[in-house]
Amino acid sequence: MTEPTLYPVPGPYAGKTLLDEQGYLEMYRRSLEDSEGFWREQAQRLDWIRPFTQVKDVSFARDDLHIRWFADGTLNVAANCLDRHLAEHGDDTAILWVGDEPGTSREISYRELHSEVCRFANGLKSLGVQRGDVVTIYMPMIPQAAVAMLACARIGAVHSVVFAGFSPEALAGRMDDGQSRVVITANAGRRGGRSVVLKENVDRAIALCKETTVETAVVVNYTDDAVNMQPGRDVDYGELLAAQDEDCPPEEMGAEDPLFILYTSGSTGKPKGVLHSGGGYLTYTSLTHEYVFDYRRGERFWCAADIGWITGHSYIIYGPLANGATTVMYEGVPNYPDVTRVARIVDEHQIDVLYIAPTAIRALMAEGDRPTEGADLSSLRLLGTVGEPINPEAWRWYHRNFGRGQCPIVDTWWQTETGGALLTPLPGATALKPGSATRPFFGIRPALVDNDGNILEGAAEGNLVLLDSWPGQMRTVFGDHQRFADTYFSTFRDMYFTGDGARRDADGYYWITGRVDDVLNVSGHRMGTAELESALVAHPAVAEAAVVGFPHDIKGQGIYVYVTLNSGVEPSEEMHRTLRDWLRSEIGPIATPDVIQWAPGLPKTRSGKIMRRILRKIAADEYDQLGDISTLADPSVVEQLIDNHTRLA
Ligand code: PRX
Repeated sequence: MTEPTLYPVPGPYAGKTLLDEQGYLEMYRRSLEDSEGFWREQAQRLDWIRPFTQVKDVSFARDDLHIRWFADGTLNVAANCLDRHLAEHGDDTAILWVGDEPGTSREISYRELHSEVCRFANGLKSLGVQRGDVVTIYMPMIPQAAVAMLACARIGAVHSVVFAGFSPEALAGRMDDGQSRVVITANAGRRGGRSVVLKENVDRAIALCKETTVETAVVVNYTDDAVNMQPGRDVDYGELLAAQDEDCPPEEMGAEDPLFILYTSGSTGKPKGVLHSGGGYLTYTSLTHEYVFDYRRGERFWCAADIGWITGHSYIIYGPLANGATTVMYEGVPNYPDVTRVARIVDEHQIDVLYIAPTAIRALMAEGDRPTEGADLSSLRLLGTVGEPINPEAWRWYHRNFGRGQCPIVDTWWQTETGGALLTPLPGATALKPGSATRPFFGIRPALVDNDGNILEGAAEGNLVLLDSWPGQMRTVFGDHQRFADTYFSTFRDMYFTGDGARRDADGYYWITGRVDDVLNVSGHRMGTAELESALVAHPAVAEAAVVGFPHDIKGQGIYVYVTLNSGVEPSEEMHRTLRDWLRSEIGPIATPDVIQWAPGLPKTRSGKIMRRILRKIAADEYDQLGDISTLADPSVVEQLIDNHTRLA
């Protein structure tokens, strides 16, 4: 039996969603035709302290690059996520926290969350944190992480959340770049039944910082693991909180004041501090959360991401809380204690919407029907995916097993830089095609261009760009506006270049084909090949290294490393382990290479540029498609590389 390629809006959805097909088309048209009017209206979903009069002030021109939304308005993001819900919904659950160990969970009401955020905000002030200061957050998935983020927002400090899986070296680099003198952490976190030590990493990172002196580390003593507190520097979270008043008026912030920095990898250089500002970002995340997930108050919304990534920022914390939602925060991993965990959580907590990454779906799918065996799952109304292209097979498995063949799947395409979803179906409005992120959200003007920047019409394949701004767009690279311009606005004139390739079909649906730059997407984690390579060559045994991605059944892409060792160093099992561990310690476990191949030489042009195209083809077993190799300085290295590759297999 052939599988359907088009899934119409399911019958039970008709007339029950915020919008139907016609409604989407009309609202989308209006969002482009009267962009200012549309966004002026949408921004009213927030509580402004001083209403804005200017809606949009944007130029994508590389030498006059600026992006401003609602610029003369003022607001407080935390007050929008908390205070304004108190009068009528103070007792609603804001955070439904689900612990790593089955059976552990906690519901935190808006009133309780507000109270703790206010006290912690006062605690931060008592430590000398002021508006504009960058505060690093390196925490497990516990409610205090949300408290820390919102407390920063309340006092106008800029949070910089660093994924707790990153190494001390990576953490130090980010603290240095942000000149962050305060870090908030926990003694340890829990994942998959084990403790993951964090405070020790923070101690090491503080020692590694070169450009900034970290003065304070606030530590949540969360597990029983012993912790070494350094007097005068380290502060216990509980003690700090206990000493504070609950009264903490929210700081009046300009719409364009920075809300947070989040580091992400690009094709060159060190990770960039993507900067988002408050007014536009919250408008956009709140609006997308409502329409993409067709969210209704009282529903339980589970975005199974980590707060260390943009998905966690936008759809665990800011979007849902701005909408007064019940947001689920899950501490653990999808397969602990076994592969039924996700389904069990859905049933136990009667989850309405489940939003997870394709890599998790594929890992569960590898277990056949076991992950959902015996589960009811009838509470689920909608499914979502994010972070990487989803293969139709995984889409159908998710649809059948978790969606019982009835729930639509919203495949949302977006990026750290975009703040919220840009290409996405709306349930109730969009017929689905497995593997397609379908159509643009309101106000979004995507286009496909060829390599010369010519806009392609109709069904086509090319580079995905955005022709105009939206309120959730990043504003700059922290501390380096030139890099912002160079990275995103110099490839194609007056357009934001996403770094992704895409195809548009005859129905106007978009299909993301993956990155067209040197960025990897490994299990939904974004990594720059340059970053991995510079970590490798920093090892004394390594002369040269080149890193490429290759197709991987579960991770989407795997990490394939070619290494040329220094003369005198022999390839060995031990050296293999050493380099693997080196990458893990320099960057973090997510950078663990899948394959390391010894390469006596790398394919280079006569001017010395490594031809990655060739390395990618070899890694993917596509030797017959190497293309022209005659421009190589030494074409014979290719044969040697293929030879070594086949011996690895
Ligand atoms: O290549 C695209 C892929 O993830 C990249 C962005 O990664 P990051 O900034 O870490 O944000 C991930 C979460 C929003 C994009 O350039 N990507 C993201 N969502 C999708 C996707 N690729 C295909 N389909 C998606 N739905």
